Amino acid sequence: MPGRRVLITGATSGLGRELALQLAREGCRLALTGRREERLKETARAVSSAGGAALALAGDVRDPACVQRHYAAIKKELGGLDWAILNAGISKSSSARDRFSSEDFRRVYETNVFGPVYWIEAVLPDMLAARSGVIAGIASVAGFRGLPRSGAYSSSKAALIATLESLRVDLRGSGVEVVIVCPGFIRTELTEKWKPEDMPFLIEPEAAARKAIAGIKARRRIVHFPWPFSAAVKYVVRNMPGFLYDRVASRATRRRLKQS
Ligand SMILES: NC(=O)c1ccc[n+]([C@@H]2O[C@H](COP(=O)([O-])OP(=O)(O)OC[C@H]3O[C@@H](n4cnc5c(N)ncnc54)[C@H](OP(=O)(O)O)[C@@H]3O)[C@@H](O)[C@H]2O)c1
Repeated sequence: MPGRRVLITGATSGLGRELALQLAREGCRLALTGRREERLKETARAVSSAGGAALALAGDVRDPACVQRHYAAIKKELGGLDWAILNAGISKSSSARDRFSSEDFRRVYETNVFGPVYWIEAVLPDMLAARSGVIAGIASVAGFRGLPRSGAYSSSKAALIATLESLRVDLRGSGVEVVIVCPGFIRTELTEKWKPEDMPFLIEPEAAARKAIAGIKARRRIVHFPWPFSAAVKYVVRNMPGFLYDRVASRATRRRLKQS
């Protein structure tokens, strides 16, 4: 890993920040993005304390011009990228009975789907020319099935999984590899408003980053964790017939609403 050039989008908090710290300890040269400039500088300082170095690029993954500017800065400073970890994401939770808004879908898709798409558009030509590179997208087990109260988030992650899978097949034999990372619940700012009882098998960002990095190093097609939760969603819930899934999922939602 020493000297490997790695982009991590959304490194101001949570999983992205932890990925930065762990990869810095392995000697990677990092490019980090996020909108909150102070928090980005704080992550870069933590990376320095961990013995690494980071190029801090404040900005928004929803803006394709900003993504192009960031990639130009990376090429100037680092000469290119070996890994692009597309991690920046947001969530939105509400029942369609209470609120169904195209604006929510637009905001979530712009970050969770178009953000990675803009970055892939930027980095892919150089990776293809070099015949090497890894594009790793942080999706979610929420993308395996349409989860209740999560229409925008769940469908955005399903779109990301399908986008990355299609890319992986297209790039087969090109030297550029694609890894889809599907975590379960992680204790981060994204989940801080949710009740612990609604997040089975909740894990800390340190453990999530370790699993994600191991999966990317092994070039696994899909990395999902924590076991057995992610395996149950991927192999059992995803394959459940619709009539059964509707009952199980809506019963769980009713139980949660009664408790709240
Ligand atoms: N936490 C979970 O349970 C869980 C489970 C499965 C998957 N994931 C996925 O893991 C990824 C990281 O989330 P997290 O849990 O670590 O949450 P988090 O602590 O809220 O981190 C999200 C990161 O994304 C960045 N971000 C959001 N919108 C952005 C934008 N428009 N432009 C640039 N950066 C943006 C945030 O930075 P700024 O706000 O500074 O821009 C922040 O650094 C997300 O893709 C999420 O969907 C999380």
